[in-house]
Amino acid sequence: MSETHTIFKSIGVVGAGQMGSGIAQVLATYGLSVVVHDLNETVLSKAQASMEKSISKLIEKGKIRETTSVILGRIKFSSSLEDLAKVELAIEAASENKEIKKIIFRKLDALLAPTAVLASNTSSISITELAAATKRPKLVLGVHFMNPVPLMKLVEVVRGQLTDDSTVNRVATLLALIEKQTIFSKDYAGFIVNRILMPMLNEAMFTLYEGVGTAEDIDKGMKLGTNHPMGPLELADFIGLDTCLSILEVLYDGFKDPKYRPCPLLKNYVMSGLLGKKTGRGFYDYSQKAGV
Ligand SMILES: NC(=O)c1ccc[n+]([C@@H]2O[C@H](COP(=O)([O-])OP(=O)(O)OC[C@H]3O[C@@H](n4cnc5c(N)ncnc54)[C@H](O)[C@@H]3O)[C@@H](O)[C@H]2O)c1
Repeated sequence: MSETHTIFKSIGVVGAGQMGSGIAQVLATYGLSVVVHDLNETVLSKAQASMEKSISKLIEKGKIRETTSVILGRIKFSSSLEDLAKVELAIEAASENKEIKKIIFRKLDALLAPTAVLASNTSSISITELAAATKRPKLVLGVHFMNPVPLMKLVEVVRGQLTDDSTVNRVATLLALIEKQTIFSKDYAGFIVNRILMPMLNEAMFTLYEGVGTAEDIDKGMKLGTNHPMGPLELADFIGLDTCLSILEVLYDGFKDPKYRPCPLLKNYVMSGLLGKKTGRGFYDYSQKAGV
């Protein structure tokens, strides 16, 4: 798992939340140097702690042979975006908000070498629009990792309108080296996976909102009745309810089709700060259950 390679000598990750920290951890596990940037030291310390916990679990299971300190030694944590200046690939994994992402892309475009590749881990936002915020649209693409990154095999690669073949091929080679499976999507709202998944999660929320069943029964129904490993409400909590709402808004806005309208209950949860597992409460209460 520690083979070093030179497709991209150094990689930057912007945003050290659930996804950014998972992406950085996996890249470092495969021997790559990574610079992780987030807005402040508190978030970065939390990211480091969550990586330590995840790496330790993978070591216990025999999936990683190196020590936690060797892997974390390849990661530089920084609250200054300027520390990404020399990276050859930047993967943006900041909050699912178009304006935030456009600002980050503009800054990265000005900061990085003109040959550097800029990728977004967005779940739904137009790669073409992010690329248009830069002067290098050929070198911009989507790399949509799944959560949790160290365990989930799939990465959805999204080609913007002007992304060139060599950008897609270089990134696909990197993804193969870190043992991810890839699928390729055109750049339409939600790409492949979330275009199919989010309407189902939203419908589960409407089922709860209209009082058709309890959260437990909705999830049990889908787990035991359709063989899903997680129930839809549990999965929405796991993804983050703010992220789910943002994705549904992108789908609704992108297709102008009422089938994507976000459930009012989801909106109320997000407005109340109940964002799911990451804040301790969403459709379920996680405050008493450490590690659920
Ligand atoms: N949660 C999932 O299951 C999942 C799965 C696939 C893709 N994604 C996508 O990954 C991205 C991140 O999602 P997440 O679940 O990690 O969210 P999160 O809320 O856990 O983390 C987002 C991080 O971005 C940081 N951030 C916000 N603005 C920033 C800026 N200007 N510069 C640097 N950092 C900034 C925040 O401080 C936070 O730490 C989103 O685009 C999301 O759609 C999420």
